[in-house]
Amino acid sequence: MPYSSEVYAAAKRILEERRSGAQRLAELKKADVYAKIPEIKNIDSEFSQRMASLSVLVLREGKDLKSVLAEMDAQNDEAKRRKAALLSSCGLSPDYLEPKYNCPNCSDTGRKNGMLCDCYKEICRKEAQKELAASSGSAACSFDNFDLSYYVDNGAEDGTNPRRKMQNYYNFCINYAYGFSLSSPSIVMMGKTGLGKTHLSLSIAKAAVEKGFGVIYSPAQKLISELEREYFSDSGKSSALKKITNCDLLIIDDLGAEFPSQFSASAIGNLINERLYENRPTIISTNLSVKELTERYSERTASRILGEYKRLLFVGEDIRFRKNP
Ligand SMILES: Nc1ncnc2c1ncn2[C@@H]1O[C@H](COP(=O)(O)OP(=O)(O)OP(=O)(O)O)[C@@H](O)[C@H]1O
Ligand SMILES: [Mg+2]
Ligand SMILES: [Zn+2]
Repeated sequence: MPYSSEVYAAAKRILEERRSGAQRLAELKKADVYAKIPEIKNIDSEFSQRMASLSVLVLREGKDLKSVLAEMDAQNDEAKRRKAALLSSCGLSPDYLEPKYNCPNCSDTGRKNGMLCDCYKEICRKEAQKELAASSGSAACSFDNFDLSYYVDNGAEDGTNPRRKMQNYYNFCINYAYGFSLSSPSIVMMGKTGLGKTHLSLSIAKAAVEKGFGVIYSPAQKLISELEREYFSDSGKSSALKKITNCDLLIIDDLGAEFPSQFSASAIGNLINERLYENRPTIISTNLSVKELTERYSERTASRILGEYKRLLFVGEDIRFRKNP
């Protein structure tokens, strides 16, 4: 958390559906049981009458609340016992008529004693996973199918061995992903096309969502278009900007592929600045070189990315091409 408002809305909808489904089913069972065992219907209506008479007895007739409640409890217990015996005579459990909630802990309300229930967190996590899969369109990328044999092992023991270098980056990314927290550093993945930058950043995204963090993945072009649309609309809303600025982990894929403009350079600059200031990790992947980054964005923005982000310089040959020569 925080997730997008769409995730929270979906979670609310799911809980409402679960709750009303359980209640509807309980009503159907009740109607069925009332038809078969009319005595149970009488017990239930006596119960309702007792409850309704409480205020009359206490407020109008001035009876003592404590003793009235004690008497009612005894009558209710007796009624419960009779009801259970009747249900049992038909082979049904005592709680057969109670709504069967998905989560008995919160009766599918998502809250218990003012705290968020685990079931609510779990629904949000699942919805966030779906949102990530929809926005990335690349459900297949994961640490499990990242294959290091695509990178040449030239035998050298130093940093010139592509496989060794990528193995180090792979290990770094796994540690980063599974140990992700709001104090994790930001990362910039640099390198030519088809070297696995998007693949590894999506693998991190999935693991962070799995841990319960709110992650937004967006290609730079799409992100800028969304911000531009919102900025130039008359609505005065800034929900996209807030969502992108405040998520736990923002992944800007393919920085530099967006249409170059004053707007995009300053939007990216502000976003990077704001997130660093607020200690919110960002992962950027780009084909741009250090020089191109500096030319394309303001010196300040480039120096933030190059100076404060952990830099991973991807090496190798286009894996896209190697997979489909
Ligand atoms: N090490 C790897 N093992 C298996 N598949 C890989 C690996 N690296 C990349 N791929 C696959 O190759 C394709 C290209 O990789 P990816 O999109 O991650 O490259 P990229 O570095 O982001 O390229 P670009 O700069 O063009 O965006 C994808 O289908 C990806 O899943
Ligand atoms: Mg990419
Ligand atoms: Zn619950």
